[in-house]
Amino acid sequence: MNYEAVMKLALERGFYFPSCEVYGDAHAGFWEYGPTGVSIKNKFLELWRRQLVRRDRMLEIDGSQIMSKSVFEASGHLGNFADPIVKCKKCKATFRADKLIADTSGIEIPESADLKEFDQVIREKAISCSKCNGELDEVKKFNMMFKVGIGPEEEEAYLRPETCQSIFVDFPRLFKTMRGKLPIGIAQVGKSFRNEIAPRQSLLRLREFYQAEIEVFCNPTKLDDLEKFSEVENTTLRIQLDEEVKKITCKEAIESGIIPNKFVAYYLAVLSEFYEKTGINMEQSRFRKLGEKEKAFYAEIAFDFEVKTTIGWLELVACNYRSDYDLSSHANKSKEKFQVMDNDEKVLPHVFEISMGIDRSLYCILEHSYRDDKENERVVLSIKPYLAPVHVGVLSLVKKDGLAEKTDEIYLQIKTKFDSFLDHSGAIGRRYRRLDEIGAPFAITIDHQTKEDNTVTIRSRDSMNQDRVKITELEAILSKETGFP
Ligand code: GLY
Repeated sequence: MNYEAVMKLALERGFYFPSCEVYGDAHAGFWEYGPTGVSIKNKFLELWRRQLVRRDRMLEIDGSQIMSKSVFEASGHLGNFADPIVKCKKCKATFRADKLIADTSGIEIPESADLKEFDQVIREKAISCSKCNGELDEVKKFNMMFKVGIGPEEEEAYLRPETCQSIFVDFPRLFKTMRGKLPIGIAQVGKSFRNEIAPRQSLLRLREFYQAEIEVFCNPTKLDDLEKFSEVENTTLRIQLDEEVKKITCKEAIESGIIPNKFVAYYLAVLSEFYEKTGINMEQSRFRKLGEKEKAFYAEIAFDFEVKTTIGWLELVACNYRSDYDLSSHANKSKEKFQVMDNDEKVLPHVFEISMGIDRSLYCILEHSYRDDKENERVVLSIKPYLAPVHVGVLSLVKKDGLAEKTDEIYLQIKTKFDSFLDHSGAIGRRYRRLDEIGAPFAITIDHQTKEDNTVTIRSRDSMNQDRVKITELEAILSKETGFP
């Protein structure tokens, strides 16, 4: 299904919509989640916690969104976190240089390339302003962090551009107070902020967005010394190799040197197993090793987890081996100690990061679950039942003859255990279709027979089959079908 169809569904069924939309001065790149969107997001995060955080006994923290200038001087973001931009000398419009060049000439230059490379291509290909055809100025760097002023003196601070900096800054305290032992993962979910020059495509390029980040701290001399690798050695990874995506097991990836060590392979496998459970079509996914010029400035090795959609491949997760880049930068700047003991050895841990874009992941889940069921004249969101915003619709066939009261009674019994939606009004077929569109896996209908024998019909979203079951069985059925795997 395509981007426009998902967008229409998102707007009409409360998944997401533009922020401040009633005002003309609303800025691009800011979106809100509505009730159905929030419900999926919460469940997606619960799955993430189960499959990654708890599986690996990681610690989870919740840090500040505004952080001091020193943090970003140390992290390198003040110096390096910039996009190449170019201004039109005539109409003053600003563009991302890499994007303008790609759109007008098809030439792909990594955003971290030397500025001279952009200027050269602009000259050689005679690229001009795409708005007024005016001459372009020289390409410059634009720092993407949002600056904020703290207190009446407006002391300089920044909205974090990635959630992980608090994990690095907090590492010594956490390791000590939580009696840490290497390797140890620390996780955080929250908002990050980037002053994108060209925000676009709703959830796909935002200025304020959600990340779920995991930083795993390890002893760099023990990257192949990982007992739990046996849990994933036969897990299949899809890896982009030259022109094609190849399926290989973790074990083969290590033996052939495609993945540098067991530590990295383990986390790529765990991540892959997680996405499998989100319902994203894994046949349309790949890990792609980034080239030198594509990697972020702090990464030594980087694999992106990407998913194919109708608007192309989207990066959902950046998996970065950040070495000791962050801990040594913060140790130098703060003069605090970031080394820890690993048995009898004193080490400055290295970090492997799994940095997940939540908004993009949710978009992919929606696009891959969307089904235009023409035969039955309905749109169905065939989302995994445990991620569905509503688990079950509770419907009275008609309001009269005491059926509304009986329906309310059943709703009352289940509404705190399952995400339930009570609906009394309108034609039953239309009510089913509305539930199909928000991916509710079940609808139970209370009819005249209910009053005679305490049974209801339960309709399955995907098959549209209806079974008659006892009211007393409902909880067990719904628990079994909507529980997390
Ligand atoms: N922390 C890595 C990223 O934000 O991409």
